[in-house]
Amino acid sequence: TDPTPSLKEVFKKDFAIGTALNTQQIEEKDPGAGLLIPAQFEAVTPENIMKAALLQPEWNRYNFELADKLVAYAERHHLKVNAHTLIWHSQLPRYMYRMSSTDSVRQFLHDHITTVAGRYDGKVYSWDVVNEALNEDGTMRKSVFQQKLGDDFVVEAFRIAQQAAPHTKLYYNDYNIEQPAKRAGAIALIKKIQAAGVRIDGVGIQGHWSVDHIPFEQIEKSIQEFSSLGIEVMFTELDISVLPAPKNVVGADISQNAAYNEKINPYAGGLPDSMQNKLASGYEALFRLFLKYDKQISRITFWGVDDGQSWLNDWPVRGRTNYPLLFDRQFKPKPAFYKVIEAG
Ligand code: XIL
Repeated sequence: TDPTPSLKEVFKKDFAIGTALNTQQIEEKDPGAGLLIPAQFEAVTPENIMKAALLQPEWNRYNFELADKLVAYAERHHLKVNAHTLIWHSQLPRYMYRMSSTDSVRQFLHDHITTVAGRYDGKVYSWDVVNEALNEDGTMRKSVFQQKLGDDFVVEAFRIAQQAAPHTKLYYNDYNIEQPAKRAGAIALIKKIQAAGVRIDGVGIQGHWSVDHIPFEQIEKSIQEFSSLGIEVMFTELDISVLPAPKNVVGADISQNAAYNEKINPYAGGLPDSMQNKLASGYEALFRLFLKYDKQISRITFWGVDDGQSWLNDWPVRGRTNYPLLFDRQFKPKPAFYKVIEAG
């Protein structure tokens, strides 16, 4: 009986609206988010459970239990799955960090992609084949894959994925690739894949931004430049932090002293109206920009359903109170939600 239209309805003609799903949500142990997911979204990305550490915890021993549950959940609720992610330097199984032989790394690249992407071909809509292969200056990140196999591991990963998953869309995904130097690196990488005659269907700009500087101008240029490569453009992990982004504190805990906490975690007691409205305006402007390019953009995915479960409460500092999404800790739509709906 709620007369407010849903995100997925409002943007149906423009692009798919998605959300990340955590384990609780996949196992339907989160009734609050459980109502919102099928009502508001038409696409889902597993936040963690399809990462290599979880799917292949020991070499050649796979655990598909949760990934299969996700696929079943998505089927029940008519949601498209963007699977995330095959090849990434982070959340790798422990043995990968100790792997010293080139042949073994090559074997892992081949077997992991073939087994996992093969199993879910026809069951998931798309894969983030390679995640975060670039440095901020556009050069290749020194991951275990890059170190052992060279820069071409990205082309190889897509080649193997194309073989294993002919019915699945294949994407490159990264953060800050809207920024000029990193964007140039991403464009070069995509062109290299295309020049090798290997299929790449789209690029995902993660979209972890901060309310004080949403890079509108670079976002617009990125949509234009990436889409001119003939591929889909997506925003795949959208959230807008309202907290300070301190440097060199990854993994730090807030409970050091009161003055530090106050500075680093200013909204523990609630979000002031001024900030609530600033977030809403930021989201509104962003969606107005996205709509200008609705032919180029195929999907916008939020990195979580509600503020209470956002990873930004624990990153880069643990234990903060952040408010980056459209639904609050009681699963109620925030002013930002209504602004986004209005824009649509
Ligand atoms: C994050 C998850 O949200 C966290 O739960 C996990 O602890 C770490 O990873 N870029 C990505 C995502 O591509 O996979 C990351 O997800 C966030 C940054």
